[in-house]
Order: sequence, then structure tokens, then C-alpha cells
Amino acid sequence: MTEKLEIYKCNICGNLVQVLINGMGELVCCGEPMQLLIPKTTEEDTSLVEKHVPIIKQEENARFVKLEHHPMTKEHFIQFIEVYSKDKSSLYLKFFNPNEPAELDITYFEKDINAIEHCNLHGLWRNIND
Ligand SMILES: [Fe+2]
Repeated sequence: MTEKLEIYKCNICGNLVQVLINGMGELVCCGEPMQLLIPKTTEEDTSLVEKHVPIIKQEENARFVKLEHHPMTKEHFIQFIEVYSKDKSSLYLKFFNPNEPAELDITYFEKDINAIEHCNLHGLWRNIND
């Protein structure tokens, strides 16, 4: 059984899928059950210079989700940032290519949100909720 907006990964082929409408079945890819990704919220490995927890930044007349301290190279980059309202009634997702700044303008999105991001090497991360 899945939950709305959960993200699952196939550890064989790398497919990454998000549940839009949940159902009773188990998600299977390449003949194996897909792995539910639980977003990390703390930078456990302090030896890493890069940071993964999405930061919500209020600037003068704008609001952004930013990953300022993370590489954006072909080998290691933020693949997408997504925000969704805490009641899961709306979401906003942006994909990134290497060399692009990993930031999402959420000025006109809802205020009460969760933000997640996916790094191609270090997986799924979520902002720290208050
Ligand atoms: Fe990373």
C-alpha cells in the first residue's frame, strides 16, 4: 500500500517514481519490489563539504528553496527540487541539469510547505520542519 507523494526507487534500473494517487498494490520494477525512499533531514556526514538539506530563504520580495552548498557537476548534482503543501493538495517540481543553480522560486506557492530534493549520489532530503 502506498501513500500520496511517496517516492520509490528501483535499485536495479534506477527508475524513480512518485505516487500521485495511492492504491493498495505494491510497486514493482525489474521484477523486484521498489524501495520507499525516506528523506533525510540531517547532515550526518560532517566530513562532506556539500550540504543537502533544502533551505527555504525569504529574500526581499521573493522566496526560494536553495541548495547553495552543493556541486552541480555532471557527476554529482541536484536532480530536482519539489515543494508541496503540508496538506498535500498542491506541488511544484523543477528538474535541474548540471551547471544550473539548484534553486526554485516559490514566491507564489503556498506558505505552509515541505521541500524535498534528490541528489544523484546521496538520495532524497527534506527541509527541517518547525
Ligand atoms: Fe550530493
